[in-house]
Amino acid sequence: MTVDLTKLMRPHLAGDVQTYDSMDPPEVLAQQYGVAPEDVIKLNGNENPYGYSPKVRDAVANAPLQHYPDPMQRRMRDALSDYTGLGPEHIILGAGSDELIHLVFQMFVAPGDKILDFDPTFGMYNFCARVAGATIEMVPRDELFEIDLDAARSAIDDRTKIIFVATPNNPTGNLASDDQIAGLLDTGRVVVVDEAYFEFCGETSASMIAEHDNLVILRTMSKWAGLAGLRIGYGMMSEDLVRRIFDIKPPYNINVAAEAALLASLEDAPALQENVQLIVDERERLTSLLNELPGVTCWPSSGNYVLCQFAPGRAPELYQGLARKGIFVRFFNTDRLRDCFRAAIGTPEQTDALVDALRELV
Ligand SMILES: Cc1ncc(COP(=O)(O)O)c(C=O)c1O
Repeated sequence: MTVDLTKLMRPHLAGDVQTYDSMDPPEVLAQQYGVAPEDVIKLNGNENPYGYSPKVRDAVANAPLQHYPDPMQRRMRDALSDYTGLGPEHIILGAGSDELIHLVFQMFVAPGDKILDFDPTFGMYNFCARVAGATIEMVPRDELFEIDLDAARSAIDDRTKIIFVATPNNPTGNLASDDQIAGLLDTGRVVVVDEAYFEFCGETSASMIAEHDNLVILRTMSKWAGLAGLRIGYGMMSEDLVRRIFDIKPPYNINVAAEAALLASLEDAPALQENVQLIVDERERLTSLLNELPGVTCWPSSGNYVLCQFAPGRAPELYQGLARKGIFVRFFNTDRLRDCFRAAIGTPEQTDALVDALRELV
């Protein structure tokens, strides 16, 4: 039987949905550009070049994979409570902070509702909004990539439900100030402050949760703890909102291996922090090396990546040139970022390879 399934679909998903611009794995990139997989330098995903804690391997090997995980995430919430200083009743975990972004949409956004996004920023908010059938109000950041609070206030209307702020912002690397976040919270909308890169800057709005029921802070184990492949993130928010999101989340969303990995990583946090420090030091070294190259501006960053800007029109060609040498960075084909790419901070050897390659190409 032939059925026109589009007639049964939610109307906003029946046409072409502009999907998330995701990354291909290293072996696929290697094949596309004719380089050996072992020569690939992968700097396109803001991943951790030092990988995960050695304690994770044993923990995952011994995890009780035959059982379903704890739907209430008790042990992880207790461990994260020690790590963050917030009570476990303020914490909920997702399969990556990506899943929590989806859950926040499910909780608050109906088709036709509106979200506010500060362009340029992480593409996931925008993507989830399209999937939810929401309208996206893109408020441009200023020439220094700062949030324009007045523009945000005037873009808000009755249908605006959520405002997203990544801090440090991906891909521009700059932080939102406490005043900017307080100003957004005063609008009475849900404000999602995405602190995916918290460990690389130490700046957080966590202390504002006690006073603001509309604040949702997101964090991840993907970056500082090197667990991107296991998909573990967490949210911090009011106790009431945690309870409500628990009620709608897939019950077993954090798998047993991910739980074991998170607990082992938090036990080994001091060692992982040493790697974070290496990355922060390397970020400063890469920034100055890039700024010495003719025609290159490297924006200061508080994350584990930097945004590099080139003379108009050159970025796509430089991206291709690097890729042919096996070095993969992130190019964004958007109006605001057309002359830029973002490079994750790698090991000192990877920094040298990137800078040498760029020196040749520019
Ligand atoms: C700002 C920001 N938030 C969230 C994420 C996704 O984190 P996760 O791996 O926990 O889904 C990223 C990943 O690059 C990011 O840059």
